[in-house]
Amino acid sequence: MKRIIPVIAACFVMTVLLDVSVDAQRAPKNVQVLTDLSTREIRDYMKSVSSGIGEKCDYCHNLKDYSSDEKETKLIGREFIKLVEQLNEQVAAINTNVMRKENLQPVTCYTCHAGELTIISED
Ligand code: HEC
Ligand code: HEC
Repeated sequence: MKRIIPVIAACFVMTVLLDVSVDAQRAPKNVQVLTDLSTREIRDYMKSVSSGIGEKCDYCHNLKDYSSDEKETKLIGREFIKLVEQLNEQVAAINTNVMRKENLQPVTCYTCHAGELTIISED
């Protein structure tokens, strides 16, 4: 038993280290707003962005280089991510200060877009 515990502990430490290094290899290169999220959290966040506006990843990304800002839609998307972050600071303040029973849910792209973009007519 005395020998097994250090072995288990060592395995655990190695798993954690391996995880971190794998994460670091795929670490995002051009994240300006979602700086608090891990690589995996960014991917999950992006899935919710996609389903929230009803567009695939390539609506905003060059699929060969996700860090590239070459698409205008990605730049627009970044401004909307900032908007959502600001709204959710307010949501948190409301939950802390005035909501007593039910918490307000965080705002997402889906809150306004409901799974599809309205294409603004140029007329
Ligand atoms: C509406 C536009 C939009 C859509 C759709 C979108 N993304 Fe993003 N994505 C962004 C923006 C904007 C950033 C940068 C966020 C920032 O600066 O904090 C980003 C960042 C990323 C990054 C980090 C890239 C790097 O190296 O900096 C990855 C990976 C990523 N997105 C994956 C995806 C995947 C996978 C999908 C589809 C499931 C997707 N995105 C859909 C706008 C979008
Ligand atoms: C507070 C409401 C609100 C939220 C939250 C919101 N949007 Fe929007 N967004 C709008 C409105 C209104 C428009 C203009 C009309 C339209 O295209 O639906 C718009 C337009 C856009 C456009 C431009 C569409 C075009 O045709 O040019 C993109 C891209 C977009 N939003 C992405 C996002 C993403 C990504 C998120 C989540 C990170 C988000 N929005 C969250 C209200 C919102």
